[in-house]
Amino acid sequence: MERIKEAISKARNSQGLKEQIKSRAQVDIHRDELNNDEITYQETKVVQLDTKHLENNRIVTFDSEDPDSVAFDILRTQILTKMKENNWRTLAITSPTPECGKTVVALNLAMSIAKQTEHTALLVDFDLRKPRISQYLGLPAGKSLFDFLENKAEIKDVLVNPGLPRLVVLPNTTPVRNAAETLTSRRIKSMVTDLRDRYESRVIIFDLPPLMAADDAMAFLPQVDCVLLIVASDESTPAEIKESRRQLQSSNLIGVVLNKSHEKQSHYY
Ligand SMILES: Nc1ncnc2c1ncn2[C@@H]1O[C@H](COP(=O)(O)OP(=O)(O)O)[C@@H](O)[C@H]1O
Ligand SMILES: [Mg+2]
Repeated sequence: MERIKEAISKARNSQGLKEQIKSRAQVDIHRDELNNDEITYQETKVVQLDTKHLENNRIVTFDSEDPDSVAFDILRTQILTKMKENNWRTLAITSPTPECGKTVVALNLAMSIAKQTEHTALLVDFDLRKPRISQYLGLPAGKSLFDFLENKAEIKDVLVNPGLPRLVVLPNTTPVRNAAETLTSRRIKSMVTDLRDRYESRVIIFDLPPLMAADDAMAFLPQVDCVLLIVASDESTPAEIKESRRQLQSSNLIGVVLNKSHEKQSHYY
């Protein structure tokens, strides 16, 4: 545990955390209308979520009253501050190995960002081998990223608004073979550029695969502004964290989240 903390502390002092202030992100709602802080979705499919299912899947920020959402709100503020300082709009989430909690953090963070009236968030499931966002949200069957990659759907037909006004999700329901090749393909590159340009100033979060299982994440990272590393307490070893940091040397590491910690947090400030 001490060694993990030491590794995290080193990661915190990394180059990525020392970037300087440049300018501020703004909110942009493409095609959908913003009225009195509420978006009326004209093109994006709106889905109502089951709060019990979310709770069972550790999605705690959907319900603002959930005391566990506070930790994610703090993380959100830290991340948004650094992203604004550097004029970054795209954030990748990865981890050394599977099961560290990337998808849980990505979903909670995206919802927490979307709850701030001056922000909108787009969450993209790019863990092509193990897509879980749709399952954790309990989305009904429908077209997903896989259909887009197969030329069977347009992106606008795949996007979902899961009931929170300023959140849009790009889910995937079918694992994709040749994941690294797909993530670096011209089709994905132009989709990412299109989403970034069309949704100017919307924060885009990419839920990526782990770093050490395959080269998918590393292959995609040059396309994002910054990266958040999730490590799991008692699971991620110092060697894995060190190796992950080495792999992230040429990326802007915005921070490291120690997930699955046993330390109790105070709900009372
Ligand atoms: N903070 C946490 N405490 C306990 N279990 C967690 C925590 N975060 C995630 N998990 C659980 O760990 C498992 C893996 O989480 P997931 O987000 O799917 O990981 P990844 O996307 O990194 O593979 C899930 O069963 C999830 O509910
Ligand atoms: Mg995942």
